Amino acid sequence: MCGILGYSGERQAAEILLDGLAKLEYRGYDSAGIAIFDSEHNKITVEKNKGRLQTLREKIKNNNAQLSGTCGIGHTRWATHGEPSDTNAHPLWSDDLLVVAVHNGIVENYKELKQELSEKGYTFYSQTDTEAAVKLIDYFYRENNDPLSAITSAIKKIEGSYCFVLLFKNNPGEVWGVRKDNPLIAGQGKGESFLASDVSAILQDTRSVYYLDNMEIVKLNKGDVRFYDSEGHAVYKKLSRVTWDSQAAEKGGFEHFMMKEIHEQARAVKDTLRSVLKGEKFDLSESGLSDENLKAVSNIYIIACGSAYHAGVVAQYVLEDLAKIPVRVELASEFRYRKMPFEKNSLAVIISQSGETADTLAAMRLAKNNGIKTLAIVNVVGSTIAREADNVFYTLAGPEIAVATTKAYSGQLIACYILAMELARARGELDNVKYCEMVREIQKLPEKIDEILDEKERIKEIAGSFIDADGAFYLGRNIDYAVAMEGSLKMKEISYVHSEAIAAGEMKHGPISLIERGMLIVGILTQKNLYAKTASNLIEAKSRGGFILSVITRGSEFLHDEADFIFYIPETDEHFSASLAVIPLQLLGYYVAVARKLDVDKPRNLAKSVTVE
Ligand code: F6R
Repeated sequence: MCGILGYSGERQAAEILLDGLAKLEYRGYDSAGIAIFDSEHNKITVEKNKGRLQTLREKIKNNNAQLSGTCGIGHTRWATHGEPSDTNAHPLWSDDLLVVAVHNGIVENYKELKQELSEKGYTFYSQTDTEAAVKLIDYFYRENNDPLSAITSAIKKIEGSYCFVLLFKNNPGEVWGVRKDNPLIAGQGKGESFLASDVSAILQDTRSVYYLDNMEIVKLNKGDVRFYDSEGHAVYKKLSRVTWDSQAAEKGGFEHFMMKEIHEQARAVKDTLRSVLKGEKFDLSESGLSDENLKAVSNIYIIACGSAYHAGVVAQYVLEDLAKIPVRVELASEFRYRKMPFEKNSLAVIISQSGETADTLAAMRLAKNNGIKTLAIVNVVGSTIAREADNVFYTLAGPEIAVATTKAYSGQLIACYILAMELARARGELDNVKYCEMVREIQKLPEKIDEILDEKERIKEIAGSFIDADGAFYLGRNIDYAVAMEGSLKMKEISYVHSEAIAAGEMKHGPISLIERGMLIVGILTQKNLYAKTASNLIEAKSRGGFILSVITRGSEFLHDEADFIFYIPETDEHFSASLAVIPLQLLGYYVAVARKLDVDKPRNLAKSVTVE
C-alpha cells in the first residue's frame, strides 16, 4: 500500500521526508514524490517520478533542485487508478498550485466528481482518482482560503476510503491531514510535528504520537498539532508513547508480515468488493465484461499456479454451480505444454498475485495465440500479465511481503465469486432476489473474517501440539476440498511439515494406510449436503489413531463428540465459505511455523514472485 508523510518544523523538510519514505519502502510502491513549501518565497515545489525513491533522490541532486523549506509532504504510490507514471505519481495539485496533496485509498466516486468539476471549468491531467478530490478541495478552498472548511466540505462529497495529507498555498507552514478507513498518525516532536501512514516512518524522530480516528482532521504548524471532527469542531486527543522497535513497527506491531497480512484480509476483501460495487450491483464493465460478453462465453479455463490455482479450484465449484458453465482449472505449468483443442468461445481466467509468474504468463500467451479471450485477476498494477491480458480485474489486497500468500488469495476468491455471480445473472441462472441476497451476504465477509481472527489464540494453543508433527492430511469435499488444498500448502510451505490435501472420498483408495497414532487430520465441513460424508471419513481416520481438527460452520452438530478440536466459523452463503474456512488454516500453518522457530516470512527455497519456469 502507499506510504504517506507530512512534516512541519524548523529543519529542512526534504531530507526528513526522503528518509521517512525510505522506511516505508517495504510496503512496495511504484513511484515516489515530495512537495516542499518554501514559506519565505511563498512557493510550493513538487518533485516526483515513477520508480524507486533512490531515483527521486538522484533526480533532486542532479537537477540541483533547491528544495528549500521547512514544511512538506511525501508519498510512495502503489498504483490503483492509472498506471505507474511520473504524471500519476503523487503529490498531485490543483491548476494554480493552491492545493497540493498526497492520498492513500480509493476515491470511489471520482468519475462523478470529475464530471461535476469539469462543468465548473476544471481540467484534469492525470488518470488518478486522487486528482478529482484535490480539485474538489481546491474548489472549496477558493471560497474563503480556509483549509478546515475546504476539507470538511469536500469529505461530505468524497466517497471511498482515504487518507489525504495536504499543503495550502495561502497557509504557509501548515500541513493538513484527514482520514477515513486508511491509517494516519500524527507525531509530536520539539518545535516540529509529523504525519505518517505508518509509525515506522517517524520513529527516528519521535515516539510521541496521536492516533487519528476515522473522519478526523489534523493540522500541523511546527510543534503545534490540532485536531478537528468532520464538522470542524476542535477535538482533544491523548498523546501515546510508542514502545516498539522500528523493525516491529514496520510490521505494524505484528511479529511477522504474514500475521499482519492475515489481519489485512478483511480490508483486502472490502476494497476488492468496493472497486466493482455500484449501488446494489456489481459492474464489471471496466474489466471488459458486459452482459453481452458474459452471455457469449461457452466455457472457462482457469489458469494459475500455487495458491492462485487453489483459488481457481474454489472458483470452479462456484462457477459451475451458480452459472452452470463448464470450467476446467489448469496448473499453468501443465497447461502451457498441453496439446489440446480449444473451444472457440472460451474465456481464459488467469489468476496471479504478482502478475509476473513465468508459467502463468506463458499459459496466458498460449491461450491468446489460440484466439481465446483472457481475463487476468491480478494484484500488482502494471505487471506483465495485467498489461498483456485482454481484460483485468484487480484484486486490491495491497503489496504482499510475506512469501506465503494470504490476503491476495482472499482477494482472488472475491474476484472469482463476483465473476461467477455476474455470469450467472447475465445468463439468467440467478434471479434478482437471490442475486441481491448474495450481494448483501458477500459484503458481510470482512466482518466475519475479523470475528474469526478474534479467536486466533485458540488456534495458537492447539498449534503448540504439532511442533514435532511429521505429516498432516487435509480433507474436504467440493469447495472444502479446494480449501483443504490451500490450508495444506500453508502448512507445508512455512512449517516444513509434510502435508497433503485429499478429496475426502479418496481416503479409502490409498492414503488411509499412512495414518498413524497422533497424525494431524484437518477436516473442513462447510457444505451442508456433504457434512455427513466428510464426517464419516474423519471418524474412520480417528479410529486409526488420527488427531481430528475440524473447521465447521457454526450450528452444525457433526463431529461434536468425535473431533479432538473443533473451530467453528460463522455461517455464510455456502458459495463464499472458502473465505472464512481458510482463515483458521492460515493461522494453523503460521502458529506451527512460529512454534518450530522458523523464518515465517521467508521460508527456505521460496521466492515471492516466480519469474522462471
Ligand atoms: C503460496 C504462494 C504461491 C503463489 C504462486 C503463484 O503461498 O504464494 O503458491 O500463489 O507462486 O504466484 P502468483 O499468484 O504471483 O502468480
